[in-house]
Amino acid sequence: MAIERIIDASVSSDDVDEQKIEITLRPQSFNEYIGQDRLKNNLKLAIDAAKKRGEPIDHVLLYGPPGLGKTTMATVIANEMGKNIRITAGPAIERAGDLASILTNLSDGDILFIDEIHRLGRSVEEVLYGAMEDFKLDIMIGKGPAARSVRLDLPKFTVIGATTRTGALTAPLRDRFGIIHRLEFYTPDEIARIIKRASNILSSKIDTKAAEILSTRARLTPRIANRLLKRVRDYADVNGDGIIDVPTTTAALNLLEIDELGLDPGDRNLLNRIIDNYGNNPVGLNTIAALTGDEATTIEDFYEPYLLQIGFIERTPRGRRVTAKGHKHVGKTYNKEGNQQKLV
Ligand SMILES: Nc1ncnc2c1ncn2[C@@H]1O[C@H](COP(=O)(O)OP(=O)(O)O)[C@@H](O)[C@H]1O
Ligand SMILES: [Mg+2]
Repeated sequence: MAIERIIDASVSSDDVDEQKIEITLRPQSFNEYIGQDRLKNNLKLAIDAAKKRGEPIDHVLLYGPPGLGKTTMATVIANEMGKNIRITAGPAIERAGDLASILTNLSDGDILFIDEIHRLGRSVEEVLYGAMEDFKLDIMIGKGPAARSVRLDLPKFTVIGATTRTGALTAPLRDRFGIIHRLEFYTPDEIARIIKRASNILSSKIDTKAAEILSTRARLTPRIANRLLKRVRDYADVNGDGIIDVPTTTAALNLLEIDELGLDPGDRNLLNRIIDNYGNNPVGLNTIAALTGDEATTIEDFYEPYLLQIGFIERTPRGRRVTAKGHKHVGKTYNKEGNQQKLV
């Protein structure tokens, strides 16, 4: 679907305005980073220990749905360590040589952030985990019979990898990470604090009740919370006195067709399609993709995590099924026997 979804938690790379806002709102330190307390505590300990020993911290793998603060956490770690961060992404490192040039340009203690690390090519990945293991790089010089392998010393660096799917990572790469952590959805309270913080930075006035409403409609995801705030602020500027109160907030959200749980027409369509065609029977991911016209990975990364989190769908060995709660939300009767099956 080519429709821009406000609740899509990915960054739209062509929206310069959005990118600017994202950068201004990005927390820089543990103090500014709201929530994810377990992760913060683990990292604080690792950072303190590393500083005491005068060593870089262990390699860190962060995983979880988009928009929960993986990239942000990587920059926070670099700031807290007082080191430089070099940001790249799996698909951007095409050949082993590209990685070699990145690695040889790092300094001791530097952080190499690799977004979408599950999308690294096989040969690149092999070079990477060798380098992560013993800070050495084996490269081939020359061709044919004269070719020989040279071993270079690398600075002691830290890789922070981010991925939406750990399942897609090979075991040897996974094993090189000393700290592996899943980012959790935020509580509505934490989201409300994130919204208040963001509105302060953007110098817009939002009342507590309005922040509360937004916090329950942002899919428990900071990126979506910030995006909704921006839209509601636009609405308040155009249709009111710029103050974000309950009436402006509800009106703006209605305009965006975002319901009281943060679902948009795309989510409701997905639930309706599954129910109309399969009742409460389990359906495979590819079938769901065919029903909605999305890519299977879009379903897996964007729609599904939140729908699972709020208990509207569940995973079974035979596929995903819509729960009784999910049926109720879109006003459909839940048939316990689940025999409403109609083949597509
Ligand atoms: N814990 C947090 N506290 C405050 N704001 C956050 C937090 N996590 C994320 N954000 C905001 O959400 C935006 C998206 O976070 P990001 O780190 O890019 O997510 P991810 O890399 O997981 O997709 C950031 O620009 C930041 O403003
Ligand atoms: Mg990111």
